[in-house]
Amino acid sequence: MKKNTLYYGDCLEVMEEFDERSVDLIYLDPPFNSKADYNIIFGTQRGDDDPDDLAQLTAFTDTWEWDADAQRRVDSIMSAIAHPAHRAMRAFKEIYPDGSGMLSYLSYMAERLAVMPRLLKNSGSIYLHCDPTASHYLKLIMDEVFGKSNFRNEIVWGYKSGGATKKWWAKKHDVLFYYAKNAKQVYFQTIKEKSYNRDFKPYRFKGVDEYEDETGWYTLVNMKDVWQIDMIGRTSAERLGYPTQKPLALLKRIITASSDQGGLVLDPFCGCGTTVEAAHQLKRDWIGIDISSYAIEVIRRERMKDMRIDLAGVPKDLKGAADFSARKPFDFEKWAVTRIRGFAPNTVQRGDGGIDGRALIFGAEQGNDLCIAQVKGGKPAIDALRAFANIIAGGKAAIGVFITLRRWDTPAVRQCIADAGTMKIGETAFNRLVMYSIDDHFRGLEPKLPPLAHPRTGKAFQAELTPHPNR
Ligand SMILES: C[S@@+](CC[C@H](N)C(=O)[O-])C[C@H]1O[C@@H](n2cnc3c(N)ncnc32)[C@H](O)[C@@H]1O
Repeated sequence: MKKNTLYYGDCLEVMEEFDERSVDLIYLDPPFNSKADYNIIFGTQRGDDDPDDLAQLTAFTDTWEWDADAQRRVDSIMSAIAHPAHRAMRAFKEIYPDGSGMLSYLSYMAERLAVMPRLLKNSGSIYLHCDPTASHYLKLIMDEVFGKSNFRNEIVWGYKSGGATKKWWAKKHDVLFYYAKNAKQVYFQTIKEKSYNRDFKPYRFKGVDEYEDETGWYTLVNMKDVWQIDMIGRTSAERLGYPTQKPLALLKRIITASSDQGGLVLDPFCGCGTTVEAAHQLKRDWIGIDISSYAIEVIRRERMKDMRIDLAGVPKDLKGAADFSARKPFDFEKWAVTRIRGFAPNTVQRGDGGIDGRALIFGAEQGNDLCIAQVKGGKPAIDALRAFANIIAGGKAAIGVFITLRRWDTPAVRQCIADAGTMKIGETAFNRLVMYSIDDHFRGLEPKLPPLAHPRTGKAFQAELTPHPNR
C-alpha cells in the first residue's frame, strides 16, 4: 500500500491488499441507500425528456436492487459462520426473507466493513457516516464487526439545507458511528467548544475560566456528540459540485480528534476527496479510494491540482491500459472517456446505444451542443465506426469521439471522418467524427474539439487543448 495515493477501484478489493494494522483512522461516507442517482450533468437541463439519458448520466448510483450479486453476497455471508457480520445478516434475512434493495445494500456494506478492522492499528478509530435510511441496521453490523464494547459515540451532524417538508419534522441531520479498534488503547484528542452561561452572564465560580465574546460569557467544555456544521452552500468557495461533497470542517474535526500528525487516514469511499484534503492540511498521511474514475479525476484535476498525486489502480502506460481493458472492460470504458476533459462517463452498464460518455460544447445552442464518445478496448472494426458515425449523421449528436486503445488510421477510417463532415464553431471548423486513442493520451495529446463545458458546473474550461497534429 502507498501513502498519499488515490486508488481507483472497489474498496473491497483494494483494501484486501493493504497491510494489517497500518491505519490510524478510517472515515467512510458510503452511498446511503438513498434511492437517489446523483446527477453530474443534464439532470435538470436535458434528461427530463429522455429518461434513459438521465439514468446513465450520473456520478454514482445510490439505488439498490435485489439481484444475482446481492444473492451471492448474502449467501456467502450466511454460509460463513466466522464472517463478522454473519449473525447480523441472519437477522436481516429474517426481516427481509425474500430479498430487497435494503438487503442488497446491507450485504454490500457488510462485505466491505468486515475487512476494515484488520487495517486499523490498536489505537485506531473508524467513523461510519450514514443517515437514518439505514443507520439502525448499519449499527448492528458495526456492533458485530467491531464489537459492542468498542462503540464510542453516535454523532449527530445537523445542518441547514434548502427545502423542508410540512408532512413531518424536516430531516436535517446525518449520523456518524464512531468505534475504536480497541476501546482501551484508542487515541483520542479532546476538542473544546464554547458553552454559553445562563443569561450570558459571568458565573465567577472559583477555579473556572470564563471568557466573553460578542454573544456573552462562556466556558470551554469538552465537545458534545451533536454537531452543527454548515453544509457546503451553492456559493461556497469549497464547492466542487460533486454530489454529496462533505464540508472540510466536519472532516477536520474528526481527523484532529482521532489521529495525530504523521498518522495515516483512510477514506475507502472518498468521492471528491474532502478527507484527503483535510488530512493533507492537518499534516496526516492519507489514502483515498473510489470506484469512480470521475471522482478520482475531480480530486486530481480540481481539488489538489497543485500537488503531484500518485494514482494506483489506473493504467500508467499503454500496456497497463490494454490489460485493464481486458480485465475490466466497463471500468476501462469509464476511465477512457474521462481522459478527455469535459466528458462524463455512463455509470450504468446497460443499453447505452453505443454511447459511453457525453459532453456539452460550451456556449453552443441546445440541440447542437452534444458530444458523444464510444470506447473500443479491443481491436476496432470498421463496421463499429460506421455505426457510430451513423448516430452522429442521424442528428443525435453534434460531434462524436471514437476512442481506441492504439492509434487507428486507415484509408477506411479517413473516409468515415470525411463522410461525417465538419461543423463550425465561431471561425473554426471541427470534424464531426473525431478519432482519439489511449496511445495519444499517454503521449500528452488531446483531441481537436470545440471548448467543452465543465460537466458539473457548465462553465468553460480554460482553453488549453493541444490539438492532435493529424486531425
Ligand atoms: C457519498 S459519496 C462520498 C462523498 C465524499 N465524502 C466527499 O466528501 O466527496 C460515496 C462515494 O463512494 C463511491 N463508491 C461507491 N461504492 C464504492 C466502492 N465499492 N469502492 C469505492 N468507492 C465506492 C462512489 O463513487 C462515491 O464517490
